[in-house]
Amino acid sequence: MQVFINLLRNAIEAKTEKSLNVHIQTALHNNLVQIYVRDNGPGIPPTIIHHIFDPFFSTKQTGTGLGLSLSRKIIELHKGSMRVQSEFGRGTCFIIELPAYSKK
Ligand SMILES: Nc1ncnc2c1ncn2[C@@H]1O[C@H](COP(=O)(O)OP(=O)(O)OP(=O)(O)O)[C@@H](O)[C@H]1O
Ligand SMILES: [Mg+2]
Repeated sequence: MQVFINLLRNAIEAKTEKSLNVHIQTALHNNLVQIYVRDNGPGIPPTIIHHIFDPFFSTKQTGTGLGLSLSRKIIELHKGSMRVQSEFGRGTCFIIELPAYSKK
């Protein structure tokens, strides 16, 4: 829940003049749950995209820069992974992969 709150808050904070759309898609592949959280915001410039998961990296006046680094840590503690894809100017997509366990 904390991870999704962080991602949704980031999407809202990145919003520009157009109306914000956040699309969440899930898929199950070979015991791996894939979750795509895609927004239609401004995207992330290629010059900073490699730093967004770094602790204390923020482009915001009052941001702590901890949201994404903590989110990735939470996912890793659940034996998953988290990455980003973004085309600057055309939105951002965070991809989370988690192992699926069948109910016994
Ligand atoms: N959906 C997004 N669209 C555009 N840029 C984003 C998006 N999500 C994250 N970013 C960029 O990644 C940076 C790091 O995000 P992170 O959530 O770690 O920190 P923050 O949002 O700046 O601060 P905090 O989460 O502590 O309020 C942001 O400052 C912003 O530049
Ligand atoms: Mg944040």
